[in-house]
Amino acid sequence: MGTETRVLLEHLGAPNLLRAAGYRAKGGYSALEKALQSMTPAAVTDEVKKSQLKGRGGAGFPTGMKWDFLDRESGKPIYLCCNADESEPGACKDRIIIHENPHLLLEGILIACYAIGSRNAFIYIRGEFHRGAEILLSAIEDARNNGWIGENILNSGFSCYIQVYRGAGAYVCGEETGLLTSLEGKRGYPKNKPPFPAIAGLYGCPTIINNVETLSAIPAIVNQGGEWYASMGTEKSAGTRLLCLSGHVNKPGVYEVVLGTMTLREFIEDFGGGVPGGRSIKGVIPGGSSMPVLREEQLDVRLSFEDIQAIGSSLGAGAIIVMDETVDMVEICLLLAKFYEHESCGQCTPCREGTRWFAQILEGILQGEGREEDLELMLDICRSEYTSICPLWSAAVWPVRAFIKQFREEFIQKIKEAKPSAKNVRELAKAQ
Ligand SMILES: Cc1cc2nc3c(=O)[nH]c(=O)nc-3n(C[C@H](O)[C@H](O)[C@H](O)COP(=O)(O)O)c2cc1C
Repeated sequence: MGTETRVLLEHLGAPNLLRAAGYRAKGGYSALEKALQSMTPAAVTDEVKKSQLKGRGGAGFPTGMKWDFLDRESGKPIYLCCNADESEPGACKDRIIIHENPHLLLEGILIACYAIGSRNAFIYIRGEFHRGAEILLSAIEDARNNGWIGENILNSGFSCYIQVYRGAGAYVCGEETGLLTSLEGKRGYPKNKPPFPAIAGLYGCPTIINNVETLSAIPAIVNQGGEWYASMGTEKSAGTRLLCLSGHVNKPGVYEVVLGTMTLREFIEDFGGGVPGGRSIKGVIPGGSSMPVLREEQLDVRLSFEDIQAIGSSLGAGAIIVMDETVDMVEICLLLAKFYEHESCGQCTPCREGTRWFAQILEGILQGEGREEDLELMLDICRSEYTSICPLWSAAVWPVRAFIKQFREEFIQKIKEAKPSAKNVRELAKAQ
């Protein structure tokens, strides 16, 4: 029986947690105190490295290592950007922290700023998250009034400010270079890397971009030590992970677990309470809509970054979407293709044209005009996956390729069952 291990969600529901005083009553801001009063910035970074914390925004890059890439000698200001865009379909974990325990995130940001030598942090939050933005603004004001944010915090000589920046609700602005151009007030077009933001980021200055969950793990790491954090989980999946469970489950929600302690099936059954109506599962997307779908037979995989990767998918943004036997996989594939078509910024040809092409072909199949060659055509389009500036195109390719591979028989059946439409009949007549 899988159980939750709450580190980030430990105090959820505690009284007055939206206020600095309520957070303080639960031991909040003690990690910041510890860092400022007894640790050098390098010592904080060392603890984060020891913790083996990997970024929770999707790519899973080791956080301490990313901080080490920062150009500290440029003489330019150093910035920290907290990525609170959370636009990946299925993902809803960051907003739980923002809505329920915003000071945890602020404390994580302040400690990270201390470690990397930044005195200015931005929280980039998706435009639609009105409530989240208001909660953050009020928490920042409260923390500032209590001396946790501002000049010379705790008389340590460390000064730090946090600002909230509201995006306009474009998925591509969750991508780090898209986020930065949007934050600079320009159209949120991603940029080629290198240079990486750690060298030339916001306004051309060295910048660290971290996800909400990543930064919220820092206070516990500072308080209890990197080794304690690394002792949880597997060698490659240290610590706890917030997982959002949605789709055909009885108890959707956000759960905090130690990776490696259960299988994906156990997670869905123990936390999600199984599928409504006792129906069976057809497929599961393990990491947010862009991650390759798994078939029911693959659910006995151990729930960890590396085990899910070994079977060809990824835990990505930690969003597990369950689809029961009633789901039409061709329809779902079209739904996803249409999302990425809508969200493509249009800057690069493969993404702009490819996402639209997928949607057109899939629409054709569903309207009874599909041909078996369409599947090969789509797989052929997928071959251009790494040719765009940012990984949004890959995010569009992976689900299409995986749906065709995993549910090919369903695609073929749909194509074969198709009734000739008026258009097909006309073409047939013309050919004769
Ligand atoms: C199209 C696209 C959308 C993304 N959306 C988000 C997002 O909403 N939140 C997030 O933290 N990372 C998102 N990422 C990943 C970020 O580019 C970046 O890797 C991450 O914010 C780094 O933080 P981390 O190291 O703490 O994971 C997205 C990436 C791509 C390609």
